[in-house]
Amino acid sequence: DNKIQIAILGLGTVGTGVYKVLKKQQPEMLPKLGVEVEVRRVLVRNLERAASRVDDPSVLTNNWEDIISDDTIDIIVEVMGGMEPARTYILDALHAGKNVVTANKDLIAADGHALMDAAKDANKDFLFEAAVAGGIPIIQPLKQALQGNYIEEIVGIVNGTTNFILTKMAEEGMEFQEALQLATDLGYAEADPTADVEGLDAGRKMAILASIGFHSRVTFKDVYTEGITKITARDIRYAKEVGCRIKLLGRARNTEDGIEVGVYPMLIDSRHPLASVNDSFNAVFVKGDAVGDTMFYGRGAGELPTASAVVGDIFDVIKNMHFGCTGRIGCTCYKQIPMKNREN
Ligand code: NDP
Ligand code: HSE
Repeated sequence: DNKIQIAILGLGTVGTGVYKVLKKQQPEMLPKLGVEVEVRRVLVRNLERAASRVDDPSVLTNNWEDIISDDTIDIIVEVMGGMEPARTYILDALHAGKNVVTANKDLIAADGHALMDAAKDANKDFLFEAAVAGGIPIIQPLKQALQGNYIEEIVGIVNGTTNFILTKMAEEGMEFQEALQLATDLGYAEADPTADVEGLDAGRKMAILASIGFHSRVTFKDVYTEGITKITARDIRYAKEVGCRIKLLGRARNTEDGIEVGVYPMLIDSRHPLASVNDSFNAVFVKGDAVGDTMFYGRGAGELPTASAVVGDIFDVIKNMHFGCTGRIGCTCYKQIPMKNREN
């Protein structure tokens, strides 16, 4: 059969974006992949509310059984967010022989290693490019193109909401709450934006990057986090007066003494490349012993940029299915490297 069937779990900002990008990619699929992709099912909570977001409401269901028991579905795209039932659904899907793509950094930062092990045991793909830095390709480069390096350091702006707030406060004199509301309206913020403004979301992303970059097991609880809620308009003004910008930075270092991962607001010189990363844009520097410094830059949040990363993963799964090599590109060999973080 020349059709791959997928199910999308959750039709919010990212789910709607994935649906739109897949529709737009329809004419490209046969030449790109040799197959067509059909959205067979979309899991939602409220059928009526979701109906206007799809052109064919008959794909909507509020019953997980309709999806997990459907043997024609090859790929599950989890974009509901949160720990449960996302974790159970992903494990059920892998055990049922389905590949999984997700954007769920909360879950991966807490339990990603168990999920990757489950995927490997099932010989299925479990991909999550969208979980870090939205549309920017960063997980795949760390797993593949940069694997010839010993990665020494990963530094970056990995939360779009806080970068948007700090930019609006610095450039337009906007109040914190007004900028946060705007970021929420634009679909950048998490369902509970405390995760963004307290640095937790960035901390989760740094745990994922450190795990993959350093071939280790770093979970969110290993990461020191500090947010931007105590930053005032006056702090931002003073920073500007001394030629600096305030940015929420994530930093992961792989040293002889162990791994250190943290997220904190930092004063950076306005001539530094990270100072000009504004609005919801993200940037990640990766320092490798062979390649030196590399920088990845782009939109770190929002409907279509995030969908770009999710759909890229879906297409990778399809290619792996074609070559019979799903479950091969995991991150399943770990070194036990001690953590040397401060306590939160
Ligand atoms: P939203 O809150 O916009 O969407 C989540 C959707 O999932 C909602 O429509 C919600 O339904 C639905 N949902 C939640 N639980 C269930 C359930 N049990 N059964 C059926 N549907 C359910 O979130 P986002 O789209 O912004 O985020 C989705 C995921 O992507 C999260 O893990 C997030 O961290 C991640 N992500 C988000 C990015 C962004 O820019 N927004 C970027 C990168 C990753 P209801 O409307 O009824 O609540
Ligand atoms: N809330 C997240 C952010 C979404 O603002 O970066 C992208 O992961």
